[in-house]
Amino acid sequence: MKWSEFFTSSIGKKLVMGLTGIFLILFLVVHVGINACIFADVFDPTDNGEIFNRAAHFMAVTIVIRIAEVGLFAGIILHIVQGYLLSAQNQSRRGQNYAVPMGNKGSKWYSRSMGLLGTLILMFLVLHVSQFWWDSRISHNLPAATYDADQHDLFARMIEVFQNPVMVIIYVLACISLTWHLMHGFQSAFRTIGLHNNRYLKMVNCIGVGFSILIPLIFALMPIACYLGWVAID
Ligand code: HEM
Repeated sequence: MKWSEFFTSSIGKKLVMGLTGIFLILFLVVHVGINACIFADVFDPTDNGEIFNRAAHFMAVTIVIRIAEVGLFAGIILHIVQGYLLSAQNQSRRGQNYAVPMGNKGSKWYSRSMGLLGTLILMFLVLHVSQFWWDSRISHNLPAATYDADQHDLFARMIEVFQNPVMVIIYVLACISLTWHLMHGFQSAFRTIGLHNNRYLKMVNCIGVGFSILIPLIFALMPIACYLGWVAID
């Protein structure tokens, strides 16, 4: 079998989804970790987002991370394209008649709604990247940090964006979509890369549920914290 045939086969598509999914899971860990630095302002109100801004600046100027960022966008695009191809394929198979009709037995609503949940996350990403990443990396249309004029004040942008309650609601809804997308995606990715041992599968399922709740919850707390003034610029 040629490589091109492998990647367009069902197994090939699933493997690409699994590998890019695990890569995106790792990205979420880094992203939530850096963004969680905004909470330093809860404990030290004189921080004014400085720790977060410094961490974001480090990510912006480190060459290895910039290269990884190209891989990240490539990974996102691949995940989306293969996701739509797989959804279309599953949809057309569902239309075929089986000798014993299975209905929705054995699969959860969120496992059957991965395409829809992914589409909601994609819509959120277009808005999200235009609000933060575009101005930080491309147009440089951001205020300078008070402690160092060479650094961007991304924290100030966050506070500004999340003064709008509609934005807070959109972000929280996106985090809820992410929870359900990960609830299926996390364990599915590990199954696809070959984890079949029952004991390990149980462990991965537990970690997956914890991850799917905890990471989006920390993300969702960010717009809420900005809106309610738990973190602010004094
Ligand atoms: C809900 C709270 C979130 C906040 C406050 C937030 C904030 C930010 C900020 C400030 C940036 C720009 C970083 C920089 O230019 O240095 C960024 C970039 C980005 N965010 Fe988020 N984010 C959140 C959630 C998410 C979620 C849930 C996803 C994915 C599902 C996501 C995906 C991305 C991507 C793909 C980028 C561009 C790539 C990069 O900067 O490395 N974000 N985010």
